[in-house]
Amino acid sequence: MSFNLRNRSLLDLVDFSPREISYLVDLAAELKRAKSAGNEQPRLKGKNVALIFEKASTRTRCAFEVAVHDQGGHVTLLDAAGSQMGHKESLKDTARVLGRMFDGIEYRGFHQSVVQDIARYSHVPVWNGLTDEAHPTQVLADLLTMQEFGPRPLSQLAFCYLGDARFNMGCSLLVGGTQMGMDVRICSPAALAPPVALVAQMQALAASTGARISIETDPLKAVAGADFLYTDVWVSMGEADAVWQQRIDQLLPYQVNAALMRATGQPHTRFMHCLPAFHNLDTEVGRQVHDKFGLKEIEVTDEVFESEASIVFTQAENRLHTIKAVLVATLA
Ligand code: CP
Ligand code: NVA
Repeated sequence: MSFNLRNRSLLDLVDFSPREISYLVDLAAELKRAKSAGNEQPRLKGKNVALIFEKASTRTRCAFEVAVHDQGGHVTLLDAAGSQMGHKESLKDTARVLGRMFDGIEYRGFHQSVVQDIARYSHVPVWNGLTDEAHPTQVLADLLTMQEFGPRPLSQLAFCYLGDARFNMGCSLLVGGTQMGMDVRICSPAALAPPVALVAQMQALAASTGARISIETDPLKAVAGADFLYTDVWVSMGEADAVWQQRIDQLLPYQVNAALMRATGQPHTRFMHCLPAFHNLDTEVGRQVHDKFGLKEIEVTDEVFESEASIVFTQAENRLHTIKAVLVATLA
């Protein structure tokens, strides 16, 4: 099935229909196969793409750059330090300038309203590379990964997201899972649960997609029968270091460790993480948290992260194929 997504922006998965999301995931699988077989057709020749990063990135930036290069186009990077944006020029003006030069714009930053404004004023497709509220390109990669590793079709799979569910990953996984008709379990302390309005919107959508949604505070209940356990950092980019103590107190019972993996009761349960992850003392932040709070591993234990069940690096690779699918569908 083919859809016309040309000139569409991807600001949030809620703006796409379940069929459009399925189409993007299937197109990503097709592009992945073509790249591996060496017969990828460049469909973005002559296209210029701007990449704006107001927050740090490894995967998203590299995936956009490689996807555009693979497809024959060009990218320009604007980061927080090296452009006029925000300091000497408003976002509205920057968006209008970039819209005159580029065929599409990726934006990573803080508020969802900013990525919406860039789309409004640039008049070219804009792709959300992460905001506080949403990380849609990550969830497309996660859906492709679950489709690849799941023992059944997506709509018959259960995943459980554990951690800070108010933020981008918890919210976007709730949306993507609901749209695909999955068994969606979101597990966090009540204070870190997804916004009530979003849950209500997804519960209404679930009536038509067949999704089963549970917003749960008890990790043992939430993971029972899950095919995938998914977690994210406990303190996200842009949040103050001062919240670490409170977050550790709130989220330690939600750490993904071997006991929680066993609690699914499914020997095939896989571990997922959008990355970067704090699973040992090999990072500066990991060491700071260890020195201050005594934790050697944070949201996931090193044992689980390094286990056979962990599919985090396929997830990371799938960022490339899914972002490429979004670019091809909206620009080519
Ligand atoms: N998962 C993710 O978005 O990674 P980066 O922050 O490295 O882009
Ligand atoms: N919640 C994390 C996701 C990183 C990909 C953050 O916003 O920092």
